Amino acid sequence: MIASLLAFYSLFSYAMAANKERTFIMVKPDGVQRGLVGKIIERFEQKGFKLVAMKFMWADKDLLEKHYADLSARPFFPGLVNYMNSGPVVPMVWEGLNVVKTGRQMLGATNPADSLPGTIRGDFCIQVGRNIIHGSDAVESAEKEIGLWFNEKELVTWAPAAKDWIYE
Ligand code: RTP
Ligand code: MG
Repeated sequence: MIASLLAFYSLFSYAMAANKERTFIMVKPDGVQRGLVGKIIERFEQKGFKLVAMKFMWADKDLLEKHYADLSARPFFPGLVNYMNSGPVVPMVWEGLNVVKTGRQMLGATNPADSLPGTIRGDFCIQVGRNIIHGSDAVESAEKEIGLWFNEKELVTWAPAAKDWIYE
């Protein structure tokens, strides 16, 4: 009896932890300039993911170089940093079951020429250098990126009223 209660509890807390996976999503300067912030947020809201943090800011090059540090040796890196520094961005943290992988699927392929219709990039943009949105590619990079763009106080703890209608 106690063993089965313990097993249930550990399964329950495992499921709860899985629902708390987080990803870092950011509307890039072209997405802001083209007035797509609302439409992008709507995709994540209507899916059922939970907004944990969001801000509107003009990121400096130092932060952008850190954010894209893994790509620093690539020929497009200086152009990428200039593009990301060309206007304000909307960094966000979204939470939910498998949000990192599902978020990437919702974004679509890096190059919009390969992004399927129905994805954000597939529906709203054309070229790789103007692909309107960023999303973390793994749980580890999400943690790193969230720490880079937000401090602990900016990550809001709250319980959406609809949670029991989104998760069983
Ligand atoms: P992101 O980090 O922005 O979500 O994009 P991603 O994972 O799909 O692709 P990644 O390889 O991380 O590339 C980061 C961003 O760099 C620009 N890029 N330009 N000119 C090019 O060949 C090229 N390749 C990548 C894109 O803005 C891409 O999203
Ligand atoms: Mg990437």
